[in-house]
Amino acid sequence: MKGIVLAGGSGTRLYPLTKATSKQLLPVYDKPMVYYPLSVLMLAGIREILIISNPENVPQLRALLGDGSRLGLELTYAEQAEPRGIAEALVIGADHINGEPSALILGDNIFHGAGFQGILREAQTGLDGCVLFGYPVSDPERYGIAETDTDGNLLSIEEKPLRPRSNNALTGLYFYDAEAVEIARDLAPSARGELEITDVNKHYLKNGRAKLVRLSRGFTWLDAGTHDSLLAASQYVHVLEQRQGVRVACLEEIALNMGYIDEEQCHRLGVEMKNSEYGQYLMQVAQ
Ligand code: G1P
Repeated sequence: MKGIVLAGGSGTRLYPLTKATSKQLLPVYDKPMVYYPLSVLMLAGIREILIISNPENVPQLRALLGDGSRLGLELTYAEQAEPRGIAEALVIGADHINGEPSALILGDNIFHGAGFQGILREAQTGLDGCVLFGYPVSDPERYGIAETDTDGNLLSIEEKPLRPRSNNALTGLYFYDAEAVEIARDLAPSARGELEITDVNKHYLKNGRAKLVRLSRGFTWLDAGTHDSLLAASQYVHVLEQRQGVRVACLEEIALNMGYIDEEQCHRLGVEMKNSEYGQYLMQVAQ
């Protein structure tokens, strides 16, 4: 399975924070935001990952993450010239996807919870169509919303409905079979001129090939696209890390646990940052 992180958008809802930098490079407590979605793909066992951003921000993301080899990954980069919608990521990423199934994740989505790795693995098994991930929220009108029957089967999907039929938001993580690229290519732009990911998902739903995995209330899903949600995400990560003494979305630790790098490499990466507590944590994890 190939991975794509969509780290685009102009981030205007976060102005002036994002006037000179990418939203996905802003800190969520102790690490850049893009670490969080990357960690999800890594936990899903995906190592070939395309990072898509606007032309100004690709160089910054590349300076941060490089070609990924230090983490046992293969990272490549592509530009989204204009914010023409999430589904355009599938078109831009067509060569990268190369006829395989893909996992697309939005660069401002933060997932955290016990057993996530198992959930991700299970969602990949026998993937036919698409797998969407739902999460209960208090403000459903801000999201793509899934309506299900009593058995949990998907009935409808609506993008930011004025009158939501449920509080089950569709998170910014999508698993697709190889057909998604063609579906995205054939989409007509929406009223706001974008290729909507919701339209890709609706296409699968119409053909009875969209599955919903519900993330339970014990799980955490945050987006960090506004000042309040960005602060809340930082506070969440801070509280957890202080209390437990472990780090959320620590890419080097995940790479070590997944067997992508060995202890020596993890230690080396820690030494490079030994003046920060993050670097010291890596040195400790490597032992
Ligand atoms: C996008 C999707 C929406 C989804 C959300 C998750 O919205 O269009 O369906 O629920 O991401 O973060 P956006 O955040 O681009 O407004």
